[in-house]
Amino acid sequence: MKLLRLMIFLAGLSCLLPAQAEERPARVTVIFDAFGKPSDLERGWGYSALVEYGGKRILFDAGGQYQAFADNVRKLKIDLKTLDFVVISHRHGDHTGGLAYVLEQNPHVKIYAPLETGSFGTPPSPPAAKALLRNAAGITPDLRYFNGQPPANLTIDSPWPGTKFTLIDKSVEIAPGLFLVKTVSDSKGTLELNELSLAIRTPQGLAVIVGCSHPGIERILEAASQYDRQLYTVVGGLHLVDKSDQQVSEVVSNFKTRWHIERIAAGHCTGEFAQVELERVYGDHHDHSGIGEVIALPR
Ligand SMILES: [Fe+2]
Repeated sequence: MKLLRLMIFLAGLSCLLPAQAEERPARVTVIFDAFGKPSDLERGWGYSALVEYGGKRILFDAGGQYQAFADNVRKLKIDLKTLDFVVISHRHGDHTGGLAYVLEQNPHVKIYAPLETGSFGTPPSPPAAKALLRNAAGITPDLRYFNGQPPANLTIDSPWPGTKFTLIDKSVEIAPGLFLVKTVSDSKGTLELNELSLAIRTPQGLAVIVGCSHPGIERILEAASQYDRQLYTVVGGLHLVDKSDQQVSEVVSNFKTRWHIERIAAGHCTGEFAQVELERVYGDHHDHSGIGEVIALPR
């Protein structure tokens, strides 16, 4: 009798498991990039991916062109109305170009973005507000800010008025096992640009989703590893496109020997030479991740 009950229980379980796997996917789907296998998806410069893990659906970045992003979302049959939240890695247009479409589909979705003065609707810091009140002797009334009486609540809209951004200025766990990793660039051209990466705790280590890696991919990995020293995969733009061959080879070698990363799914600004190096070093652990590709994550 006990054996019969066990058999019925196991039969029930085997029916349940595929259904659960279907309902709780563990994967990243690339929506927007400039390369990939032949398909009817549109290529463009920028990055966007749908991250599904632990029952959560997260849009990471929104591509670089409104129309191409919207078309790819429709062709991939991605429902933006049922997102849990959006993460915008940084302020550049190649990661925000499709945000207006996201907001048309889901106007009240929660959007995490880096605290970035003037980009995502930032109130001025108290010293800046105080500076407005500085009394300059001899100034005429028509040249005084707000007639000398600035409003108590001095806010600045983002280019997406009415959107409620949650601005992040330090790394934080936003849900169990889901982390926003904040880093700052000190590179020429993107000096002081803040960037958010998404780190997901999986049974085999962290999956780190990156937008453009302007602060440097190794700096991001260092910051992410505060949550787990074991790194499973890195997905997204590694920004090696403008580095010398020698620098690229060094970083790719470090992925293996210093960071012990199991797999790589590099996209966007990683660069063609880096893709060749990743193929050489990682072989079948190099996940090609052009538009439409689905990168499996460990569950
Ligand atoms: Fe980018």
